[in-house]
Amino acid sequence: MSLLVKGGEIVTPDERYVADIFCENETITRIDRDLAAPNGAEVIDATGKYVFPGFIDPHVHIYLPFMGTFAKDTHETASRAAVVGGTTTFIEMICPGCAEKPLEAFELWLGKASGASACDFSFHMGVTRYDDEAERDFREIVRRGVSSFKVFLAYKGALGISDEQLYQTLRLAKSLGVITTAHCENADLVAELQKKLLAEGKTGPEWHYWSRPPVVEAEGVHHLMTFAEMTGAHVYIVHLSCEESLREAIRGAERGVHVWVETLIQYLLLDRTDAEKPDFEGAKAVMSPPLRDKKNQEVLWNGLRQRFVSTLATDHAPFDFATQKIMGCDDFTKIPNGIPSLEDRINLYYTHGVKGGRIDLHQFVDTASTQTAKIFGLFPRKGTIQLGSDADLVVYDPEYRGTISAKTHQMNLDYNSFEGFEIEGRPHVVTVRGKVAARDGKFVGDIGRGKFLQREPDHF
Ligand code: URP
Ligand code: ZN
Ligand code: ZN
Repeated sequence: MSLLVKGGEIVTPDERYVADIFCENETITRIDRDLAAPNGAEVIDATGKYVFPGFIDPHVHIYLPFMGTFAKDTHETASRAAVVGGTTTFIEMICPGCAEKPLEAFELWLGKASGASACDFSFHMGVTRYDDEAERDFREIVRRGVSSFKVFLAYKGALGISDEQLYQTLRLAKSLGVITTAHCENADLVAELQKKLLAEGKTGPEWHYWSRPPVVEAEGVHHLMTFAEMTGAHVYIVHLSCEESLREAIRGAERGVHVWVETLIQYLLLDRTDAEKPDFEGAKAVMSPPLRDKKNQEVLWNGLRQRFVSTLATDHAPFDFATQKIMGCDDFTKIPNGIPSLEDRINLYYTHGVKGGRIDLHQFVDTASTQTAKIFGLFPRKGTIQLGSDADLVVYDPEYRGTISAKTHQMNLDYNSFEGFEIEGRPHVVTVRGKVAARDGKFVGDIGRGKFLQREPDHF
C-alpha cells in the first residue's frame, strides 16, 4: 500500500514549503518536488491545500464511568469523530475507581480500545489510590508502555487523591521518569462551596461556576507546583482555564519546576454566560474547571502564542443532554461534567486562531500536534512530517466554509456545545499511517486499525 500526496504546502512548527510526500509501509519515505507515482499508488491532489502532521489530542475520555453514569462515546464513535476532524492520535485517561486494581483497569481500558479504534491511541494511567499493591501495578503499567500518570486534585470522595498520595505518586513518577498530568482544583474548597450554595437554594447550572471560582483552581495549581518542586517530578496541568492559574504555573516554572500547561478549545471560545442559559440549557456548558469570564480568553490565546501554554486539547467527555445532564436538574453538583469537542477542536482552532489572526500556522501545528508528541514521548513518530515518521497527514482545505451542528456530527451525543459556530476550513483528506481514513467530512477508515502506542519513560 503506497500513497502520494502531491503539491500541498507542508506546515510544521519550523517550516512551510510546497512538496510531494510519498508514504510506504505506513511511514513517510520521501519528501521532494515532482515525485512520480509508482504503479498502484493512491494519489491525492493537495494543490492549494495545507498538509499538516496528524493532530494529537492529549486529553480525552471515552470509556469513562463518572458521576453515576458513563460517557456516551465508544472507541468506534469517538475515533470516527476524531479522524473526521483531523485528529489521528489521542491519549485517553484510564480512570479506575479508588477501590479498583490499577493493572486490571489498564487491561480493561486497553481491551475496550483494542480492535475498536480507527486511529492510534495511548493512555495516561489514573492514580486514584496509592499503596504497595497499586505501586507494583504502576511500575508494571509503565513497563507496558504507559509513561504518564493522571491525578485529580478535585473530585473529593471519588477520583481525587490526598496530599500524601500525591507526594508518593510524584516520587514514583520521578524515579520512573514519567510525567504526571493533573486536574488542579482544591477539592475541599469545591465541596464546601457546593454545600453552601445548595443550602442557599442555588441549584441551577449557573451556580457550578461559583462552586469552583478561579482562585480554587489557582490554589490547585499552586499546590501542584509545591509538590513538584519538592519531588523534582515533571508535571503537566490539564485543562487550565484562567489567568490566575496561569500565573501560578509561570511562578512555578520560574522557581525551576518542570511544568507544562494545557488549555482547551472550550475555554478559548465559550464563557461563563453559556452555563447561564435558561431552561437548564446551561447544563450543556457545565465542565470542570468551569467556563470562565470572557477576559480570560485573550490571556489563554496569548499564552499559546508565547508558549506558556504548550498544548490545545479537548478533555472530550460526552454526556447526553436528555438522559444524562438532566440528572442534575435539581442539583448542579449532579450534572455530569464535560463538554465534548473531539471532532471540532481543529476546525475551531484554525478558524478562530489562524484565520482570526491570534496564532500563526506554525503555532497552530505546534500546540495541536508537535508539542503533545514531544511532551508525551511520541515524537518524531508522531507530530511532524519527516522521513520515517508515521504517515498521519491532514490535507487541509482552507477554502471550506461550514457550520457546526449536532445534526451532522459524528460524536455519539444529542447536542453540540458549538452548535451554529461557523468554520473556515476543514480536513479534505486525513490519513492514518498511510491509509485514507476521512474525506471531506466523511469517515472512510477502518475501525480496529488504530494501534496502542507504547511510550518509553525518560524521554526528556
Ligand atoms: O468536566 C470535566 N472536565 N470532565 C471530565 C473529567 C475531568 O475532570 O477531566
Ligand atoms: Zn479534569
Ligand atoms: Zn479530563
